[in-house]
Amino acid sequence: MIKMTLNNKPVELDVNPQMPLLYALRDELKLTGTKFGCGAGQCGACTVHVNGQAMRSCVTPVSAIAEQAITTIEGLADHNGKLGESAVQIAWREFKVPQCGYCQSGQMMSAAALLQAIPQPSDEQIIEHMQGNICRCGTYKRIKAAIKSAATHSSASSLSASHSATGNSADSTLPVSTSPSNKSKVEVFSASQFASKKQGASS
Ligand code: FES
Ligand code: FES
Repeated sequence: MIKMTLNNKPVELDVNPQMPLLYALRDELKLTGTKFGCGAGQCGACTVHVNGQAMRSCVTPVSAIAEQAITTIEGLADHNGKLGESAVQIAWREFKVPQCGYCQSGQMMSAAALLQAIPQPSDEQIIEHMQGNICRCGTYKRIKAAIKSAATHSSASSLSASHSATGNSADSTLPVSTSPSNKSKVEVFSASQFASKKQGASS
């Protein structure tokens, strides 16, 4: 049984420990905002946050994220915990960044991680950080403009819902979220419960 915190909720996963986190998110937990692109760590479509850092979920086995805090695009929120209203998401809408949209959840997760680490990135830092996220539609100019806009409208702490499974910010190199969390919540969801709750919420 793999335990983790997913979008501020404790989750238990009864899967093969070698299963890629991407498969667990999409197939077991029904969080399909995270996309399969290359499956080899090369395109960035599957990017999620692990303790606030961008990570390619297609090449990350679930065994590697036990007891960690995972944030997916579904958990990206503003500093009040309002889902879908992080500075990055607001800027993405403002600049109408997506074309087909397939790569964009990964792009936003990478961008959010960048702004958590470097609240006011230079053009060079944006290009360097985002170069691993491929967009077949070529939306790179709008992505860069949106990141610069998000940087001016946000503080680093307002970009993601949760970055600590324990509430203990042991890694001082990582930003600490000030968003309200459900860390005190004692309810623990199994994968099937989590998926059914998620489906119920969206129906
Ligand atoms: S699907 Fe994970 S990097 Fe391409
Ligand atoms: S918007 Fe189509 S692949 Fe990026």
